Amino acid sequence: MSAPRLIAVIGATGAQGIPVVRELVQSGSYKVRALTRDASSARFRELQSFGSVEPVIGTFASEKDLRATFRGAWGAFVNIDGFNSGEKAEMFWTIRAYELAIEEGVKFFILGNLDYVYKKSGYKPEFHAGHYDGKGRIGEWILQQNQANHGRMQAALLTTGPYMEMTISAHTPMAVTMDSGVATWRLPMQDGAIPFVALDDCGVYVKWLFEHPSRANGLDLEVGIAHITRSDLSGAFEKVTGRPARAVDVGFEEYFGKVWLQDPEHAAGYNADLSDPATMTVRENFTAFWNVWRNSGGNTGLVRRDYALLDEIHPARVRSAEEFFRHEEEKGVKAGLGTLWERVQPERIAHVLKITEDKRTGRL
Ligand SMILES: NC(=O)c1ccc[n+]([C@@H]2O[C@H](COP(=O)([O-])OP(=O)(O)OC[C@H]3O[C@@H](n4cnc5c(N)ncnc54)[C@H](OP(=O)(O)O)[C@@H]3O)[C@@H](O)[C@H]2O)c1
Repeated sequence: MSAPRLIAVIGATGAQGIPVVRELVQSGSYKVRALTRDASSARFRELQSFGSVEPVIGTFASEKDLRATFRGAWGAFVNIDGFNSGEKAEMFWTIRAYELAIEEGVKFFILGNLDYVYKKSGYKPEFHAGHYDGKGRIGEWILQQNQANHGRMQAALLTTGPYMEMTISAHTPMAVTMDSGVATWRLPMQDGAIPFVALDDCGVYVKWLFEHPSRANGLDLEVGIAHITRSDLSGAFEKVTGRPARAVDVGFEEYFGKVWLQDPEHAAGYNADLSDPATMTVRENFTAFWNVWRNSGGNTGLVRRDYALLDEIHPARVRSAEEFFRHEEEKGVKAGLGTLWERVQPERIAHVLKITEDKRTGRL
């Protein structure tokens, strides 16, 4: 058996990074070097419990730390946290990450990407969501650079979407609350739909990209479970838990005033400067985010997915809200965390996002 290939990961301790690292390392074909600001965190220790994971302690906002992360690695998976940097700095550091990965001899680069929704809308301002466009623009730029650079380093995009895990986790834009014994989501999505992703499946897709370079090179792999509506969400939850649930449409005033606990006038990025005209507020950013889902129903609107391709790449993928909740029910019971219903109770509900676990956002 050949020696495991080294993959450099940025965002490894995050919601998206953990299943990526787990899938890679547990396969035995890869070891991981992870950039983190704090290697003593519980999440970094969790990564090390999967197998060979070494830290580089530093920040993505440092050329020195990026070089140290990429040096000698065969592959890279890069998810720059725009909710740290804000849209403007995210774009700069993602470009530098791509360039420095080439400089350091990386052979295959995967960007943890999001849809370039502003462009997909035909440049309508109501769809400019900074945390989507900051990735999506640079995703396109990387694929363009790759046309000239792929003899030296190949590249692919993993374009994800809202994590379905956020619907059953604390302090997310789509967190569940218990309302007189009814699991309740209040979402300003009207009759639209969200192509949620299942995080465990993201790990499988990343491994597939590394293992199929001739198909993956230059590919924008846009993933998702299905286009899930409010009634899909609550209906599936009821079916799996046997308990009442509802997903209510709310207006933006109610949503930003009462539903989501983050201060809507804060910068969308805790290190972004609100006095910089390039910085969006949480309200501006997430109004556009929800406008995108209002206009994505039925897989015929702004954000679309090719589910047949995903079936081919990952035949065992999660295909519906019901399948997702069933997996979560089984996983939680097996891990001793309780049933899904128990796990969404206010005293039990956990964080999927490291940013909120670390209390790095306002009013949490
Ligand atoms: N929430 C969603 O549904 C969703 C979906 C798709 C994409 N995204 C995007 O994913 C990104 C966030 O990742 P996540 O969802 O995994 O969130 P998360 O759970 O909050 O994790 C954030 C990750 O970013 C790392 N990080 C933050 N600042 C860093 C810095 N200066 N240097 C190095 N690493 C840093 C953290 O590492 P340490 O704390 O260990 O340093 C951690 O691994 C955002 O850009 C977001 O737009 C989110």
